[in-house]
Amino acid sequence: MRILVIGGAGYIGSHVARAFLDHGYEVTVFDNFQTGLRENLFNDAAFVHGDIMRPEQLRAAMAGGFDGCVHLAALKAAGQSMLQPELYSEANIAGTINILSQASAAGIARIIFSSSAAVYGSPQYLPIDEDHPKEPENFYGFTKLEIERLLEWYDRLKGMRYGAIRYFNAAGYDVRGRIKGLELNPENLLPIVMEVAAGIRPKLSIFGDDYPTRDGSCIRDYVHVSDLAEAHVTAFEYILKNDKSLTVNLGSETGISVFEMVERARSITGRPVPAEVTGRRAGDPSELVASSAKSRELLGWVPKYSDVDTLISSTWKMYEKYVTL
Ligand code: UFG
Repeated sequence: MRILVIGGAGYIGSHVARAFLDHGYEVTVFDNFQTGLRENLFNDAAFVHGDIMRPEQLRAAMAGGFDGCVHLAALKAAGQSMLQPELYSEANIAGTINILSQASAAGIARIIFSSSAAVYGSPQYLPIDEDHPKEPENFYGFTKLEIERLLEWYDRLKGMRYGAIRYFNAAGYDVRGRIKGLELNPENLLPIVMEVAAGIRPKLSIFGDDYPTRDGSCIRDYVHVSDLAEAHVTAFEYILKNDKSLTVNLGSETGISVFEMVERARSITGRPVPAEVTGRRAGDPSELVASSAKSRELLGWVPKYSDVDTLISSTWKMYEKYVTL
């Protein structure tokens, strides 16, 4: 089976490419290196340097013939999307339209799409299942929801089967150390905490301690990126076997607050993590925790690495070499 992994040099994409390779697929990675990294490419995968905003580059890459593609090429910083929505409209929505048009033309009839828990907005109940109302609170989440709607129409009109995977908070690194690249200028909590622990940045800003949660900081459901990656393979196999599209949550079903994450990181790394509470960040719901019952039932998905200690220790392995003091 041949798979095109679009955005496969990125943080999540490289783990996804590795998972397909581990399952014996023939993998081609397509990436423009805007946030992806050359060092995330594997010798046993082919590579095409290209941009989803350039339809002719997608067309050329897809001409090889693929059984399916995985689309992870997107901007993903919820905070930034509130300040620069036009960037997110272009890269996420217009970029996906290019992929769908070119995939249809090339006869690629299966797509696994990186969606997000951000489609739900503030929870009206917890844990959040797939039927929860979709009322995104940030523009990033809106783009993911619009893309899911496009996918539904392409399924109906073009027979394009999709697996839309709504990630909760992706974190951690391959426990076997096979992913080499560190995200540049990360915007997510755990890599920022690790940069502070390693002395790369002076301190962490904690965005708000006045949320209606157990300690006032936001609660999130962190899920290991290798567990996410594995689900891409099983989702692809599901839509292949059943000729049916699928939308599922992927989360560990455990909520961890910002303060709890920082405290655990201090203890596991043995390093100080200076932190200061600053104001709330626009677009942050107070608490997100998944129900992954549907993934369990349809995909047999069971997270193996998503406990908080493995999340932190597998990430720290990547950052500890930068400790300077
Ligand atoms: N946070 C801080 N300080 C920081 C960075 C983050 O306090 O420097 C807090 C945030 O306010 C939030 C929590 O840590 O409460 C997690 O923030 P992230 O930026 O790491 O992640 P988000 O929850 O905003 O979003 C992430 C992904 C989205 C995805 C969402 C789904 O980036 O793509 O999880 O739950 F949609």
